[in-house]
Amino acid sequence: MKIDSELINEIRNKVDIVEIISSYLPLTTRGKNYFGVCPFHDDHSPSMSVSKEKQIYTCFSCGATGNVFNFIQDYEHITFVEAVKKCADMCGIDLKIKTSSDDKIIKKYKTIYDIYEISQKFYQNNINSSLGKKAKEYLYSRSLTDLEIKHFDIGLSLNENDMLVKLLKQKKFTDKDLLKSGLANANENDIYDVYRNRIMFPLHDLVGHVIGYNGRAYDDETTNRYVNSKETDLFKKRDFLYNYHRAKESARSKKQIIIMEGPMDVIRAYTIGIENVVATLGTSFSASQSNLIRRLSDNVILCFDGDAAGLKATKLAITELGKVGILPKIVLIPDNADPDEYIKNNGSEAFQNLLNKAIDIMEFKTILLKKETNLNSPEGVANYVKAMISEINKIDDDILKEVTINRLVDETKVSKDVIMSKLDNKKKELVITPKKKQTKKNKYEKSVQCLIYYMLYNEEVIKMYDRKITHIKDDNYRHLAFQISAFYKKHGYIKVADLLSEVDDVNTTKTIGSIVALELKDDYTKEEIDDYLNNIKEFNDLEKIDKYKSELAQANDINEKIQLANKLIAYKLRSEEND
Ligand code: CTP
Ligand code: MN
Repeated sequence: MKIDSELINEIRNKVDIVEIISSYLPLTTRGKNYFGVCPFHDDHSPSMSVSKEKQIYTCFSCGATGNVFNFIQDYEHITFVEAVKKCADMCGIDLKIKTSSDDKIIKKYKTIYDIYEISQKFYQNNINSSLGKKAKEYLYSRSLTDLEIKHFDIGLSLNENDMLVKLLKQKKFTDKDLLKSGLANANENDIYDVYRNRIMFPLHDLVGHVIGYNGRAYDDETTNRYVNSKETDLFKKRDFLYNYHRAKESARSKKQIIIMEGPMDVIRAYTIGIENVVATLGTSFSASQSNLIRRLSDNVILCFDGDAAGLKATKLAITELGKVGILPKIVLIPDNADPDEYIKNNGSEAFQNLLNKAIDIMEFKTILLKKETNLNSPEGVANYVKAMISEINKIDDDILKEVTINRLVDETKVSKDVIMSKLDNKKKELVITPKKKQTKKNKYEKSVQCLIYYMLYNEEVIKMYDRKITHIKDDNYRHLAFQISAFYKKHGYIKVADLLSEVDDVNTTKTIGSIVALELKDDYTKEEIDDYLNNIKEFNDLEKIDKYKSELAQANDINEKIQLANKLIAYKLRSEEND
């Protein structure tokens, strides 16, 4: 669902961020800003400042930044569009009158939503009728009760060709609608039900509409244990997590989200009172699932099956979650079991123990590496230590690094000094960098920050940047400068609070927060801006010169050498002009 960006900005203009945030948490005034305890990290003193003037909030402790919608979105764990709607609601703005494009989208999908709602009622009726006796017995035999069957809306497709199709046709849905919903297939003559004689686990979207099914065979005749819904406009497996809409609340209050593989695992966890669980429906894990998880909590426990496939899923999820800055914990279930079986056989307390003993990603890697090496031989130990050092070099988290190093020392008795000497040490590099280069670098960074700061508040500076566009090396700053310029081109004005509505990656948002926090003087001169632009260019030239120099040193071919030398001279001349 999409709301027109003009309308989003209009709503934002009508509301006051201070009022809205005050309705969630107490704010106190200090100077021209308001302060509150930040709800996005474990805050003890008020670290979040809310600016009435800029209509944004920033936390100087965790870096959380945003406008009124971002606040509601992150606080409520809802989508941006839901947050805009909620905000409009809170302020008595009627969105319906204006969201023609929004309405169109709802209308576009309304048919599919309706079809799924009808199918769900139908499947639920079936399981509760006499035709559902065998299916229910199957579920009872797996130790589920009517309580779970109802709570998870479990249903049954019947052992006939076109039961659902017939029903929906009676209700005047067209063949085209039915095919589009993914619940019907076509042959040359007719269309027929996709699901026959299966236990139906409904799949819901983030807010609770049914958008698909996971159909499980429950007798020996049916092949293919599981049949997932076909992908439709509304159901894309890579954007989907089972049980998300139910797990939201619990994940938020427990500040933790657990990820499992299948509906049966989630349902079993529910029987022992664990509700902050979602499932991936198998062993793939996508970037967009990472983003969904991040909205629930950054305290994540991976609890995949204890078999080889589960291990593979765990590795993939660690990589994907790592990309959004999450270091998950891992539960390894013994004896190839899945959470469903483990809980059923060992009970709630035993499972709770597994959760409490969840290991960090480095322990997980240790376990994997140990499987491949023989720690009884000196070579084996050496290989193991080397492999671990290369893993340690990959992590950013200082604390996890330190903990892992200490563990490695304890375990292998290789001295800490030796291990430390083998680690990439960024601090060491800084010392080696010549001082002149270092001050140039500082000057460059400061220029980039100041340039972007003034771009955030002044059209004139954006125009200067656009005219004299220079490459900004740092990804976050470059993307931000680009987005400011794009926002201005699109809307003809610049306002930080509105820009924040269009930024959808955390890094850029955090960068905005850090730039705004610079609180530079309000006025600037064109000369200052020119200086910033020139400093950036000069630093780029220096970098280019360094690059050509090292290429020149390595080049073998004489023609190549000449070419590089010419480039180098040209660059040197230009950069000296600027000095
Ligand atoms: N899955 C699927 N298609 C398959 C196999 C699995 O869609 N061919 C999905 C299902 O959602 C399943 C999940 O991946 O729940 C995990 O697979 P698996 O561990 O094999 O199933 P279980 O959850 O153990 O299901 P059950 O206990 O009912 O056999
Ligand atoms: Mn399983």
